[in-house]
Amino acid sequence: MAAHRRPILAANWKMNHGPTAASAFLASFLARYARREDRTVILFPSALAFAAARSAVAERPDVLLGVQNIYSAEKGAFTGENSAAIALDAGAGYVLVGHSERRHVFGETDAQSAEKVKLAAAHGLVPVLCVGEKIEEREAGQTDAVCVRQLRAAFAGLPVETLRDAIVAYEPVWAIGTGRTATPQDASAAHQAIRAELRALAGDAGAAIPILYGGSVNAGNAATLLSAPGVDGLLVGGASLEADSWLAICTAEA
Ligand code: 13P
Repeated sequence: MAAHRRPILAANWKMNHGPTAASAFLASFLARYARREDRTVILFPSALAFAAARSAVAERPDVLLGVQNIYSAEKGAFTGENSAAIALDAGAGYVLVGHSERRHVFGETDAQSAEKVKLAAAHGLVPVLCVGEKIEEREAGQTDAVCVRQLRAAFAGLPVETLRDAIVAYEPVWAIGTGRTATPQDASAAHQAIRAELRALAGDAGAAIPILYGGSVNAGNAATLLSAPGVDGLLVGGASLEADSWLAICTAEA
């Protein structure tokens, strides 16, 4: 991580922690996590636990909230979905877009990611665009090409003012939930390719877009990954579910 960057530690709770568990988690975490000016902490609870999380962080403006998904339309007859406007109204500042589980479990396309990025930006939510290759793509030497394709599909044609506020997360699919973390070298190499494409898409603004690493991050490897050149923060699944390990990750020193 470059010295001037303030790392972002983001917790993606996925389909875990209902309102009761979210409140208990935050009571435990917030009692022990003191505000720090040198990092940004963002939580992505489930949609139904969002209100509980919001109320738990009401006195802690240093702990930010996002939603795990929005639908790729403004509003209307889309039973079960939530829009960017609803997410904003509920108190979200961020939204995950193109997470590998959305792409590979739910079959979401690059085109839908592009629409979601546009809607997020139009409503003042920061999109956290997730990109990353599957194992067979890595083995075929396509890591950079896959990340670049996903970036271009979601970001091409957007004004620099929109891209300036975006965040990217590099999450190799083979590292998610598998215990198989990318090496710091692998993460740095992918982040470098992503950075080059962000510069191509957004010029100088592309140099400042944070690029997070995600995939089997835990309390033991967080500091090493944060120290890897080009890694501006971490997007954490499993290890963000326990207050102890999340606290250790949020206080890890690069
Ligand atoms: P794990 O940390 O459980 O591998 O999940 C990573 C992830 O998908 C975060 O969005």
